[in-house]
Order: sequence, then structure tokens, then C-alpha cells
Amino acid sequence: MFPQHVIARKRDGLALSDEEIRAFVQGATDGSWADYQLSAMLMAIFLNGMTTEEVATYTEAMMHSGTVADLSNVPGRKVDKHSTGGVGDKVSLPLAAMVAAAGVPVPMISGRGLGHSGGTLDKLEAIPGFNVNLTLEEYRNQVERVGCALIGQTSDLAPSDKKLYALRDVTATVECRPLICGSIMCKKLAEGIDGLVLDVKFGRGAFMKDIDQARELATAMVEIGRAMGKGVHALLTAMDQPLGRAVGNGVEVAESIACLRGEGPADLMEVTYALGAEMLLLAEVETDLTSARERLEKTVSDGSALAKFGEIVAVQGGNARVIDDPLGILPQAAQQVPLVASRAGIVQDVDAMEVALAALRLGAGRATAEDAVDPAVGITELVKVGEAVEKGQTLAVVHANDDESLLVATTQLRDGIVVGDTQVATPPLIAERIA
Ligand code: URA
Repeated sequence: MFPQHVIARKRDGLALSDEEIRAFVQGATDGSWADYQLSAMLMAIFLNGMTTEEVATYTEAMMHSGTVADLSNVPGRKVDKHSTGGVGDKVSLPLAAMVAAAGVPVPMISGRGLGHSGGTLDKLEAIPGFNVNLTLEEYRNQVERVGCALIGQTSDLAPSDKKLYALRDVTATVECRPLICGSIMCKKLAEGIDGLVLDVKFGRGAFMKDIDQARELATAMVEIGRAMGKGVHALLTAMDQPLGRAVGNGVEVAESIACLRGEGPADLMEVTYALGAEMLLLAEVETDLTSARERLEKTVSDGSALAKFGEIVAVQGGNARVIDDPLGILPQAAQQVPLVASRAGIVQDVDAMEVALAALRLGAGRATAEDAVDPAVGITELVKVGEAVEKGQTLAVVHANDDESLLVATTQLRDGIVVGDTQVATPPLIAERIA
């Protein structure tokens, strides 16, 4: 089968056969298709789309382009979560610990932050000693023994996606629903899971700017997961202002620990419990959302979720004293400077993108995949939309390691936080459920 014939069929708007899609993915995996042919095919898909059947075959072929983790050694249904990414989204940390403490195995393979959005691996690595680079064998054993492993993608997991994602990045073909759907789902399905909950974010701080785009992506991913025999639920959640009050790496670990103590910000607690309740349903250990949520709340009130987090940290080489003394164990920035309100009023807006860019300027994120992040810097004590503030009250605390980034980030943050006189009603955080 000649690549140019397959490309021509997609260029002409035809649906590809399973065999043609597999040839394309195989070509990406073994190098038998040249980069220019893969790129031409990606653009043809970008322009002409794919049917649900094509996306299912594409996802399955990418999933099988490498190792598919076999977790049959772990009893029970294994369930994970994927978020399309946002600002201050540290949900994976408390969620994994709560769900594992509730008795459901959580095999979680996460990514790093890129661009404005943070990544779970960077946050975990803020804990001194924490090792995210386990082999698939170590991952299997840990999920069996501890009920959860929090690791990075290994090179043998969906290698075709790695190749195609790199080409998409430089050929303006990232923003394409069938390609995003295949890319996310092939990696999650290769983890060895039985069920998956998706947190599909929409708004200024999200990949999808409006709820219609988010719904289309969520529906496509739910359909693909089901076509592959997995339980998949999705929540559409708002990402106009950051989630929680902390944005950065170490500072988000500290907020995650507060969440595991039941002392996290209300929005973070709400999203974590809502996604966790879906996971307990998908794991078939609960049959309704109310009792599932109560079970998770109990893991927080009885301390078992926090203890589980400490256990995961310890087995992955991290300093588990972090759960009792986060400020003593997590790296601290040289300067912690409050940004104060110049007038009294009501917080009208906290622009997630401006806050993310401020955190980026401080060094909390990366511009290219090779950049290192600074685990100590970030923003804490962020106000929330609708809160009343007095003149001189703290709107946020900037954690910086040098004067220049402190100045730039503070200016950016000031632009993003608007105080005015109007009462503002915030729209619901969890907008829709697709199950
Ligand atoms: N995340 C992925 O893993 N793939 C995409 O295509 C987009 C977001």
C-alpha cells in the first residue's frame, strides 16, 4: 500500500479503511512513512475529519503501537482520570489518593506541563526525592501493592503518538478533534485501565475555549472509550479562573495536601469529589453518586486518603514527611510578596490565562519540552471571583526567586485580577456530565 494513495483518499474526503489507518500508524511507528507523508496525512485529516469508526481504529492502532500494560495481576476494576489541562489543576494528586484509599486501584500515567498549563509530573517532582520514572513492571507491582502509582509516560507506551504529536506540533495540526481524541485515548487505554473519567475543561485557561467544543471532544472520547469496551464518563468543567488558590508546582502540592485534610478551597474540593465519585461508579464499587461522594469524604475525614498519599510518596522515593510539614519539606522561594488591592470592592475577574502567564514568568512552567521548571515559585492565596476585598487586602502572594521575575509576574497578575463594584454570580463549576 503506497502512502501517497492513502493520503490521496483522505485528501479527497473519503473515509479510510481499517487497513489504511493501520498502515498510516505503522508508518509512524516504524519509520516506513516519511515525515512529509505523515504530515500530509495529518493535514488531510485536519481538513476532512474522521468518522467515529475511523477514530476508533486510529486509537486502537496507536494504543497497540507499543506495550499495553497488563494489570490483570491487580484485582478489581482499575480506573483513571484524564484532564484536558488547566491552570491550578492539581486534582490528580488528591484524587488518586482518595480513590485508592476508597479501595479502587488507580494506575495513573501523567504528563508534564507545557505552555500555560501545568503538569502532574512537575508537581510531584517538587516533593524531594519523588521518582516518576518507574518501569512498566514497577508500575504494575506498585498498583498491586499500594493501589496506586503516579508515573510518567514510558517510551514503550504508544510510540506512534509521540511521533505524530511532535509532527502535529510543527505542522499546525494540533487543534483537530479526531487527532486529539485518538492521542489522549490511546495513551490512557494503554495504561491497562477498565474505566476512565474525563475532566474536559472549557474557558480562557483551557485548551477548548467554549463549552460546545468541549462537549464535542468529550462526546467523541466517551464514544471511543466505549467502542473499546471501557467505561468512560466525562465532566465539563469551567476554567475561566484558576482552580483553587495556588498555581505553581510545590505550592500546588501543598494545596493538594490541604485538600486531603478536607481544608482545600471549595472549588478544588468540589471538582475532586465529583470526579472521584464518577471513578467509584466506573469501578462498580458504588451505584450512585451520593454514596460514592460520601465514601470519598470519609477517606478524608478518617485520614486514610492523606495516609495513602504519604504511602505513595514514600514508595516512590519521596520525603513522606511532606504530608505533615509541607512548608518544611517543599522548596520555598526566596521572596514571598503579597499583591494588595488598591481599592475596596468585589472581585470581578481572575483571568486564568493571565495567572498562568505570571506563573510561567516566575519559572513555574516551561516554554519548550526541554526547559526545567522551578519547583519553589508560584502564586498562592489567590482571591476568587465574587469575593469582597478591602483596600490593602491581599489579592495573591507571589513566590519568586529573583527580582526581575517578581516584577514582571506581579504586573501580569495585576492585569488579571479586576476589582469593581458589581455583584458577580459565578457560573456553575461543573457544567455538564456525559455518562
Ligand atoms: N493531549 C494529548 O495527549 N494529545 C493531544 O492531542 C492533545 C492534548
